[in-house]
Amino acid sequence: MPHQGKALHQPLKTPVEGFLSLFEPLPLGLAPMAGFTTAPFRTLAARLGASFTVTELVSARGIRHDPSLKRSARYLQPTGGGKPWGIQLFGRDPDDFVFAIQRLLSEPLYRAASFIDLNMGCPAPKVLKEGAGCSLMRDGQLVSRIVGAAVKAGSAFGCPVTAKIRSGVSPDAINAVEIAKAIEQGGAAAVTVHARTLDQYYRGRADWQVIGQVKEVLSIPVFGNGDLELPGDLEKMRVMTDCDGFMVGRAARGNPFIFRALRGGAAEISSQEWLEAMIEHLDASVEMLGEAVAVRELRSHFAFYLRGFEGSAQLRRQVMEPTGRDGVVKILREAARRRKAV
Ligand SMILES: Cc1cc2nc3c(=O)[nH]c(=O)nc-3n(C[C@H](O)[C@H](O)[C@H](O)COP(=O)(O)O)c2cc1C
Repeated sequence: MPHQGKALHQPLKTPVEGFLSLFEPLPLGLAPMAGFTTAPFRTLAARLGASFTVTELVSARGIRHDPSLKRSARYLQPTGGGKPWGIQLFGRDPDDFVFAIQRLLSEPLYRAASFIDLNMGCPAPKVLKEGAGCSLMRDGQLVSRIVGAAVKAGSAFGCPVTAKIRSGVSPDAINAVEIAKAIEQGGAAAVTVHARTLDQYYRGRADWQVIGQVKEVLSIPVFGNGDLELPGDLEKMRVMTDCDGFMVGRAARGNPFIFRALRGGAAEISSQEWLEAMIEHLDASVEMLGEAVAVRELRSHFAFYLRGFEGSAQLRRQVMEPTGRDGVVKILREAARRRKAV
């Protein structure tokens, strides 16, 4: 199978072929998460074992209205370190997707992306209000049109297009299989299934059976997503669904070491490497956003990092206060002293 890396230099005729080989030997990605999967965090996760990462959702219409990318550039920044990364777009109008894909892929920085992912699972009210995100799962024909148009736009640059869906919109409208078939027929390279319904939001348990049902009928790779958090979970999901790869979301917040643990690697994280990871995350964010913005935005990340050891609640409160990088680092050093290796 041709290696997709070629796509950077010469357009492939069928970017679908060999897609999975991008992520071998174990396709285990960081799922897109608005507010969390910034370039610094993606880069850290990739260094610590994620075989691919995806940007948070970016509005295709927003790119059409702001083709200079002034507002969206920060979300689109490449993941560092050379591992595959994707750009996720959301929207409803096929023409918006085409415009956004052409705009992005005509610039070398974004043409380095390994794939464009189409968001068909977001439950956020402001996205649903536009008829985008998981709303698309109500309209299989529109899904076909969007995927067909996006694949055509991506193919001109040798860039594969993927889509991320949910199980359906509600327990009595589980239609992941039908939607995934439409996505495959549209020429997509892979589908990720977050095995929850729209009305579940992030509550309850993911029903992995739905991932298995999708896998059974598709020939393109299927990535399973939802509640992967403990060593052994990949094996459990693989046995239940036969999926080709995995994406991990919430369990990675404040724990970019999760990929190593899920792969069955060293479970223990020394306080030194834990501290270094947090400082790397902070410093790369300061470089990208400036000190004041980075310190403010990373508070929600530190609320996740600083958990599960004696005195962590107090440190979580303290880390909300500093407005400068050095003040945060002081608290992180204190946290590393108090936290024993876990
Ligand atoms: C804060 C947050 C933001 C998210 N943002 C996105 C997003 O931008 N695009 C997307 O496809 N999914 C998004 N998701 C969904 C995750 O990618 C993933 O599908 C979901 O969290 C289930 O996986 P998990 O159980 O491993 O967390 C988000 C989830 C969370 C918690």
